[in-house]
Amino acid sequence: MRIAVLGLGTVGRQVVEVLDLERALFAARLGEEIEVSHILVRDPGKPRPESVRSRITYDPRDVLEDPSVEVIVELMGGFEPAHSYIAEAMRRGKSVVTANKEVIARSGPELSRGGTPRADLLFEAAVAGGIPIIRSLQESLAGNRLHGIYGIVNGTTNFILTRMHEDCVSFETALQEAKERGYAEADPSDDLDAVDAARKISILASLAFGGWVDVDAVGRIGIRNITAADVREAKSLGAVIKLVARAESTPEGLALGVSPTLIPKNHPLADVGGAQNAVYVRGEPIGQLLFEGPGAGGPATSSAVIGDLLDAARARRVGGRSVALPLEPAPLLPPEAHSHAYYLRLLVREEAGALAAVAQAFAHAGVSLRSVHQPPSGDAEAMISLVTRPTSRQQLERAREMLRGEHAVLREESCILAEMEAEAKTGA
Ligand code: NAP
Ligand code: HSE
Repeated sequence: MRIAVLGLGTVGRQVVEVLDLERALFAARLGEEIEVSHILVRDPGKPRPESVRSRITYDPRDVLEDPSVEVIVELMGGFEPAHSYIAEAMRRGKSVVTANKEVIARSGPELSRGGTPRADLLFEAAVAGGIPIIRSLQESLAGNRLHGIYGIVNGTTNFILTRMHEDCVSFETALQEAKERGYAEADPSDDLDAVDAARKISILASLAFGGWVDVDAVGRIGIRNITAADVREAKSLGAVIKLVARAESTPEGLALGVSPTLIPKNHPLADVGGAQNAVYVRGEPIGQLLFEGPGAGGPATSSAVIGDLLDAARARRVGGRSVALPLEPAPLLPPEAHSHAYYLRLLVREEAGALAAVAQAFAHAGVSLRSVHQPPSGDAEAMISLVTRPTSRQQLERAREMLRGEHAVLREESCILAEMEAEAKTGA
């Protein structure tokens, strides 16, 4: 079977290398050899390894218009032209395997219906790297009513937060390391500003809850404002800060969001370090399930890509496979109706009554406090960190507004979600 790979970067290089190396193994598994006949790239000035030179092309028509190419593996990234190439390939009856979460999150349903009946669209590598979460939701967990999905689904930000937490490395240094290891997107803002994680949770929620989730409806806060002081304070509270993507089913609709979140050390997601990803699923009758594994980088992603490729190839010979994505929009709970606990870090004047003034602001807003911590401070300023009980966004905003009007409060330095009561939930 002749296939083409579009893109020869971090992931594409690894995929071609493994397909070339394991040709005999995959032929034995499939009953037919897979031959990478074309590799599409963009930049004619880049040096390419000897082993791929004869297969390189810069013209997408060489791939799309060649009827002998049965499967396209899209690993270029970005929305266009990747989206158009996928659509065109599927219209021509080719199956497509992609790691492109932007394309799937924005156009998955239309693409999955736009091809000929033989054209499958597989995208296991688009979410959580090497973890087989897409197939698990589509197939193995299809007999469940799912209640919630909580994930660390971005390797770059998890790597940065882990380096800050465990090794006191600066944000900038950790980001540079993540880029060098091939974890970061071409534009790392997508990682840092939680755009990538929002795309991934929108895909997972669409598969888990049976209605399409528009990625623009996912509220997101990235990790740019997380400082060394937050990380230190989290440690002293027996917690860590993780970028958590969540999708919870409520009677009024799905509650979705991505945000840095303070979680206790005994939370199932707390020990997921480095570029590892994890997806924690709650449902019935399964109960709780934790998937964990390498979430970014060439090796992890190539594992998922090649699994999909073998699946697509097999389906072309023996039939079956395609799972259409839902078209109907999922009902969503408006963000102001979400209820969460929050962690806030405040800088206050070192004077009598400062702590009382802070406590009073929360009391007036009707927000109950779970814990308050004031580490030893200097002469003029003091830090207060606190964790609220679950509260509505509206009540939280009322409390923050009152704090801004307090003479004793110099400024709010941090405000993120907190999941400090997760032990009770996960222990159920
Ligand atoms: P990358 O290292 O930036 O490589 C991109 C490759 O695509 C390069 O070879 C580039 O060609 C080629 N390309 C880009 N635009 C093109 C165009 N218009 N025409 C032809 N070729 C084009 O990207 P990557 O990290 O491998 O990521 C690829 C995809 O996998 C992305 O969708 C990404 O989100 C996804 N993904 C990545 C990871 C990861 O850890 N890196 C994990 C999961 C999913 P040149 O070589 O000529 O520049
Ligand atoms: N940039 C992405 C991440 C790649 O860091 O998770 C894997 O999707």
